[in-house]
Amino acid sequence: MRLKGKKALVTGAGGGIGSAVARCFASEGAELILSDRHAADCAAVAETIRNGGADPMVAAADVTIEDEIRELYEKIEEVHVTLDVVVNIAGGDLEPVRDINDLGYDGMSGNIDLNLKSCMLSCREACRIMRPENYGRIINMSSLVYRGSQGQFSYSAAKGGIFSFTRSLAMAMGPYNITVNALAPALVDVPVFKRVLGEERWKALAEDAARRYPMQRIASPDDVARAALFLASDDASFITGQILEISGGARL
Ligand SMILES: NC(=O)c1ccc[n+]([C@@H]2O[C@H](COP(=O)([O-])OP(=O)(O)OC[C@H]3O[C@@H](n4cnc5c(N)ncnc54)[C@H](O)[C@@H]3O)[C@@H](O)[C@H]2O)c1
Repeated sequence: MRLKGKKALVTGAGGGIGSAVARCFASEGAELILSDRHAADCAAVAETIRNGGADPMVAAADVTIEDEIRELYEKIEEVHVTLDVVVNIAGGDLEPVRDINDLGYDGMSGNIDLNLKSCMLSCREACRIMRPENYGRIINMSSLVYRGSQGQFSYSAAKGGIFSFTRSLAMAMGPYNITVNALAPALVDVPVFKRVLGEERWKALAEDAARRYPMQRIASPDDVARAALFLASDDASFITGQILEISGGARL
């Protein structure tokens, strides 16, 4: 029970990776707050979680809206008073364009808002609660594309921004015993891909990636969840400002 008694917020908890993190943290004894854009997105996840009798708290928040992020943390304070762990997972690529000519202001703004600004705002609120407690574990969802990715101009820029923000915040929060780290998965097998691309295109894409990765497979959501668990646990108590690649050796 590596998270016994720890209060942990997971954003994007209704998604493929977020739901795996939620289940993993619950099985390690965390008291969970699950958030997603719509409450229904994570209510179903909450139902599947057996958490020693304690039901996860479910709170809707659109992370692209500053007021909703602020209200989310206020609700958490009302119920839980303090917060030990935050995993900022909500995100996604809103502008997968092939050619730089197709890069649009709205698309790039959408990607920066959803992936980068949301993370910074959530971290600000988390630190407000964690700093007086002199304890915190913050885990931000970057992506292996933080190194750059063909056709993912604004998404990779946002995920790269998460890496540099994570390092800056780690420097600022070190004196308060708050660690701040980032996860950088390569391709993860989540249901949204099949839904968006269709079964055949997704299969071809996943097989192609698996061939290119040294470990000859793509990541599972549980691979990512276990890395998040490590960073949230006391095993990682002196690790901060790091980006952990969950990539099976891809792009070494
Ligand atoms: N799947 C991959 O291959 C992969 C690889 C690297 C990084 N990531 C990152 O992992 C995270 C989770 O992605 P996933 O693969 O589980 O996809 P997913 O689509 O299943 O999960 C994303 C979740 O974020 C939520 N969300 C989207 N917009 C939101 C908003 N405005 N406010 C609140 N919630 C919002 C969605 O409702 C969804 O539940 C994302 O940040 C993604 O960029 C994914």
